[in-house]
Amino acid sequence: MINKSKNHWYDGWFYDKYIAPYQDVTYVQILSMIEKGRRVIDIGCGTGRFIIKVADKAEEAIGIDLSLKNINYAKKLKSRRNIENVDFIHADALHISGLYKERFDYAIVSYVIHEIDISIRTMLINELRKIAKNIIIADFAIPQLLNKRGLLNRTVEFFAGRKHFSNFLSFSRAGGIQGLVNEMNLKIIEERKDTTKTSYIVKVE
Ligand SMILES: C[S@@+](CC[C@H](N)C(=O)[O-])C[C@H]1O[C@@H](n2cnc3c(N)ncnc32)[C@H](O)[C@@H]1O
Repeated sequence: MINKSKNHWYDGWFYDKYIAPYQDVTYVQILSMIEKGRRVIDIGCGTGRFIIKVADKAEEAIGIDLSLKNINYAKKLKSRRNIENVDFIHADALHISGLYKERFDYAIVSYVIHEIDISIRTMLINELRKIAKNIIIADFAIPQLLNKRGLLNRTVEFFAGRKHFSNFLSFSRAGGIQGLVNEMNLKIIEERKDTTKTSYIVKVE
């Protein structure tokens, strides 16, 4: 079900070429937290870079995103690579349980929590609990270090637009992922940082 579409100026080819590759250090960690042969749904999958990486390992991998530009780009990448066990759907994650009744082993939420309004973060996680046994949440580690990567991250967030930057600031003030885990009393099963120490990844029940 799609209530709305969300589009940013950088969605599509620009995101895939200039932003998504920076998340590879995080994706390495997420991949190591998923066992072989599992069913995975990537929430806010962007242009599908993670889904394409997990396709070899997963039984089935579905990417959903509210940006039609990103989903169309991801579909193009899928057909170029001829991957069978992957699908990309234009959908709103806040209503995902209406679309998928079956339980996934993992719902991945990578760099989505910091960009959505603080009022809907718990709603999103509660929705994902209905469709997945485990949720892997990856996002900026708070506080962001003042290393090269930390400064780059802040700059990218600033240029992503006024609303996006204001959501990033409220994510930081609320303590990032750790703040959300505390607020929702989520049980952390596993946690990682990437090699640049600027992202924090948790697997929760
Ligand atoms: C910063 S990008 C992260 C993309 C990718 N997960 C990554 O790790 O690079 C956040 C994505 O979440 C998507 N998004 C935001 N709110 C959403 C919602 N309610 N439902 C589905 N996707 C959403 C945006 O369209 C965007 O593509």
